[in-house]
Amino acid sequence: MTEATYNQKPTSTVNTTVREITCFNTSTENIDHSVVNSFGEEWKKFSEFSDEEINQLGNMYFDIITPAMVNKNTYGIDIGCGTGRFTRYLTDRIGFMEAIDPSEAIFTADKLLDKNKNVRLSMASTDNIPFEDETFDFAMSIGVLHHIPDTPKAMQDCVKKVKIGGYFYTYLYYSLDNKGMFFKMLLSVVTAIRKVTSSLPMILKKFVCDILAVVFYMPLVLTGRFMKLIGLRKAAEKLPLSAYQDKTFFVIRNDSLDRFGTSLEQRFSRKEIEQMMRHSGLDEIVISENTPYWHAVGKRIK
Ligand SMILES: C[S@@+](CC[C@H](N)C(=O)[O-])C[C@H]1O[C@@H](n2cnc3c(N)ncnc32)[C@H](O)[C@@H]1O
Repeated sequence: MTEATYNQKPTSTVNTTVREITCFNTSTENIDHSVVNSFGEEWKKFSEFSDEEINQLGNMYFDIITPAMVNKNTYGIDIGCGTGRFTRYLTDRIGFMEAIDPSEAIFTADKLLDKNKNVRLSMASTDNIPFEDETFDFAMSIGVLHHIPDTPKAMQDCVKKVKIGGYFYTYLYYSLDNKGMFFKMLLSVVTAIRKVTSSLPMILKKFVCDILAVVFYMPLVLTGRFMKLIGLRKAAEKLPLSAYQDKTFFVIRNDSLDRFGTSLEQRFSRKEIEQMMRHSGLDEIVISENTPYWHAVGKRIK
């Protein structure tokens, strides 16, 4: 499979020990630079995922992806790839992957993907994806669009790079629309804490988010693990943060920094996500019933 040529001139290229990374203009409109800088720092800290962690996460996120959507003939793009952990999950299952991110995280992805030959990395943002429209069989944007000021516009910018008949997959933070009052109250507390933690200088932010991983995530996670051990699986799965009961502490620390360290975070209901996807030209939309909420895939029909 031959990769597409870029549709614009780069601003620079960086030669790492692994590959050449091409950088495009990211001083665009639909981007929050403080969020991007924060992620660049975050991914420097959380860069070393084991194969086991990647497989566990990938199996969870890609439960709704079928071989018709991703196979060895598929040309894909990971938009907002971060460390490249999900690109890495797909490299054994796909023809070729482009991975783009506007932050320094692209250099972390370069290391995580150092053995993967069917990947090209570029520094770019959703509103300046350096490929012609209708280039890809499969595009994905995981945990990205809710950190962009205009999420519906960002989704449209991603979907237009997919061929008609191709697929777009996304994970967006949910508005707890499938949960009760207790979860919603907990989210208000988390949001209040996040307003403070996300404005801290990076060193302090990392430290505080590690503490929150211990005092906020771990008691709930350990309670859930214990309940499962004594046979109360169903009740354990109803606890807040139940998705972390089988995750490593490394993944939990990473997500704590993600959750408490980011200033711009938007949340959407299942219905809003479906509408946004339809408005972007997608149909045959499948939204997973499983965590993380909500992850969804749709076929581009127009
Ligand atoms: C929570 S991380 C998710 C990374 C990766 N998809 C994953 O799930 O591991 C969000 C990523 O979105 C990127 N991002 C933020 N604004 C963006 C934009 N306007 N265009 C593309 N990526 C963006 C950040 O740099 C960051 O790496």
